[in-house]
Amino acid sequence: MAYECILTESDGGVGIITLNRPDALNAFNQKLMNEVTDAVHKFEADDSIGCMVITGSEKAFAAGADIKEMASKNYIDVLKEDFITANWEEVSKTRKPVIAAVAGYALGGGCELALMCDFILAGDNAKFGQPEISIGALPGAGGTQRLARFIGKSKAMEMCLTGRMMDAEEAERCGLVSRIVPVGELRAEAIEVAKKIANFSRPITTLTKESVNRAFETTLSEGVRFERRVFHSVFAFEDQKEGMAAFTEKRKPVFKHR
Ligand code: CAA
Repeated sequence: MAYECILTESDGGVGIITLNRPDALNAFNQKLMNEVTDAVHKFEADDSIGCMVITGSEKAFAAGADIKEMASKNYIDVLKEDFITANWEEVSKTRKPVIAAVAGYALGGGCELALMCDFILAGDNAKFGQPEISIGALPGAGGTQRLARFIGKSKAMEMCLTGRMMDAEEAERCGLVSRIVPVGELRAEAIEVAKKIANFSRPITTLTKESVNRAFETTLSEGVRFERRVFHSVFAFEDQKEGMAAFTEKRKPVFKHR
């Protein structure tokens, strides 16, 4: 599939997807959505890739669903297409870790795409928001659900009901983003972090991601039980033997399953 709205590359075990519709601030038309899904599937299937980065430009990660494309749809259209979530949820289903590197606007579906990733690194100019209310709609790609879980009801409710944007500092304070990076360094830093993850044992990063995600899907006692069972299972892995032997021998581990 030749891409028109995204760029893809790989670097040191990292699959990088750059949203690239600069004239529309990376707004998601159907083509862009299909391309991101396709690229994520390809990186997921590529054994040389251990982690992915999704990013945009310095001005916009993405300004949300393409309002011009969406405006004339009717109820039957959106129901038949299962509009917005049908293929976007694929990003949240990948087993490999995905980092969102967000500079500039991450609005509507742009904010929701970032929320589907495993964590968000924010450029110091990042602005997050769910402005759908101001165009007579509401978040349609998980915004009301993930925001409420990640930053709490009060802030999520305020953002969705008023459409106000949150800057990078507020986003870091409330746990929406893991860290703020000067915007000019964001892409390189995200790739560096992703390379670090890609160089760990692949089965263990997969299980770690699954365990953290379990925290949002189950009770604390079930989650802790799940984590303990997974923790026990790593003692069957060569990479656990290698990691702990390397520590004892004061050398860097060389994980076999990368
Ligand atoms: N859809 C389609 N086109 C968009 C767009 C969008 N979401 N956001 C920006 N654009 C286009 C603009 O129409 C403009 O194109 P033209 O030059 O052809 O008119 C171009 O991108 C640049 O945008 P602006 O001139 O508006 O740039 P700005 O710097 O003045 O403002 C902005 C930036 C505040 C992000 C503003 O563009 C804006 O408010 N965009 C809409 C944001 C929004 O409402 N997003 C939610 C969409 S609904 C959704 O996402 C549903 C869901 O849950 C999945």
